[in-house]
Amino acid sequence: MDNRPIGLLDSGVGGLTVVKKVIQKLPNESTVFIGDNAHIPYGDKTNEEVIALTRRSVKFLLSKNVKLIIFACNTATAAAMDVIQDEIKPQIIGVIQSGSLAAARTTKNKKVAVVATNVTVASHAYKKEIRFRDPNIQVTELAAPKLVPLVENGADYESCLKAVQESLLSLKGKDFDTLVLGCTHYPIIRKEFAETVNKNVQIVDPADQVAQYTFNVMRRDGLFSDDSVKPVHAYYTTGDEKKVNKLGRSFLNDPSFVAKHIDSEKDNG
Ligand code: DGL
Repeated sequence: MDNRPIGLLDSGVGGLTVVKKVIQKLPNESTVFIGDNAHIPYGDKTNEEVIALTRRSVKFLLSKNVKLIIFACNTATAAAMDVIQDEIKPQIIGVIQSGSLAAARTTKNKKVAVVATNVTVASHAYKKEIRFRDPNIQVTELAAPKLVPLVENGADYESCLKAVQESLLSLKGKDFDTLVLGCTHYPIIRKEFAETVNKNVQIVDPADQVAQYTFNVMRRDGLFSDDSVKPVHAYYTTGDEKKVNKLGRSFLNDPSFVAKHIDSEKDNG
């Protein structure tokens, strides 16, 4: 038994899509989430910048005594996970490995499209991971840098739909049967993606498999909390707490959602 919380990080509110799935799968577990909204988007930064910022969030989570850390951010997973895992003891779980497994299991015609940030696409992490599972799968990776700012600003359905349609234009005529939402902000606008692609395309949100994988790791390592302890969920942001609270309440469908502002440069124990 281990009653310490699970830590999760993202560059912004997108990571809440992972928090939601983890809480559903592991209802007895406490969580601590940090969204680095002050520095979003990570997807347009250099790998070195993403590593430095992610390292700060990891340091903050470690100061909260977490038992493992989920990078609820594809960009941080692609650019920083291997480097930072070498520096810390708790296991880091990324989203790309799980998303790739889910994609490889889902595709029937062995054609997968992945939409993600510039950093994630440039790393080809999805292509490598999916083809590691099945080298016969063709993977098309596409960057959609316009979408994260829209989600962070709580843009309306019509604006998001237009941006998704424009972003996916180059996929027109391609007969992929599986689309991976390779950025944790995108499941928030999943409807807009579903409206844009053919009806027969399966949309994969890596978060489902991340929650299952986290469960498996915790069972393997004896990390489950004692079920007599009431779980606590804490949310932190380096950005504007009012803005994050509004978005968090609507995404998590939880009117009691409250994020606390922190400065990740100073507030890490
Ligand atoms: N939510 C992050 C991801 O999964 C990226 C958003 C950003 O560009 O900061 O890739």
